[in-house]
Amino acid sequence: MEASQNQYPGLGGAVYMNASESEGFLPDFGALPPALLDRVQLLYLCTPSNPTGAAFSLERLQTLIQLADRHDFVIVSDECYSEIWYENPPPGILQAAWRSGRKALQRCLAFHSLSKRSNLPGARSGFVAGDAAILKKYLQLRTYTGCSTPPFIQRAAIAAWQDETHVEENRAIYRRKLADALEILSPILPVKAPDAGFYLWLKVPGGGERFAHRLYERYNVTTLPGAYLSRSTGHATHPGATGNPGEANIRVALVAPEKENREAMLRIADCARELLT
Ligand SMILES: Cc1ncc(COP(=O)(O)O)c(C=O)c1O
Repeated sequence: MEASQNQYPGLGGAVYMNASESEGFLPDFGALPPALLDRVQLLYLCTPSNPTGAAFSLERLQTLIQLADRHDFVIVSDECYSEIWYENPPPGILQAAWRSGRKALQRCLAFHSLSKRSNLPGARSGFVAGDAAILKKYLQLRTYTGCSTPPFIQRAAIAAWQDETHVEENRAIYRRKLADALEILSPILPVKAPDAGFYLWLKVPGGGERFAHRLYERYNVTTLPGAYLSRSTGHATHPGATGNPGEANIRVALVAPEKENREAMLRIADCARELLT
């Protein structure tokens, strides 16, 4: 959109929403100005979230679908972490639509991947499901602009989607790694178990960038400063909010093997102790 046409200075084609701790790490789409919502064509959601691990409830997803009806937009929900859960499986956008009686899943698309559920990120294989009218156009777009999936990957994907045993085993391993992380870190840092996913969104002393740097330099553990995963706000969608909402955090991925993961947690705790004293 031309800058002169833009009623919301500072906003380009995409509007980014904060998902801060004070909001339960879930963006409040209903709080956006109605005039802005009227201009939305596609709302992109990541639930369970990377990096915070927060998942939308069924009720919140249903309210979001009502908002999409009111303002005429499509919801694209990236749910690639939905099978790495701890207490309860998180709901998805198609489940929310179906439970609302929308059997044609109008305006809703869910994207899934083998990367997390089957530890197959190199395969770049997943699926999209939902509103058939949108998928028809999406298939055409994908055919012309994407590259086709090699047959051997298609075969591996069929086998992976048909098997749940490895997914359950994988989930059990993540549960043990999360338990280790909570046990080791909670006496030192304000750590909270995510709803799902394999990340800890840790608030660290000295801020995310400084902490990640020190942790890498002195303790040989690689994490990601939270600010690198979010953007500075303070515009029309977040009146009064300024700065980068991820600045105080690091993202810790619990993806190393169990023994290595435990050792990394001990080193994160040591680094926190050093920076706290
Ligand atoms: C939210 C989210 N969506 C998608 C992906 C990637 O999915 P794929 O490996 O299927 O391209 C990732 C991987 O890091 C992710 O975190």
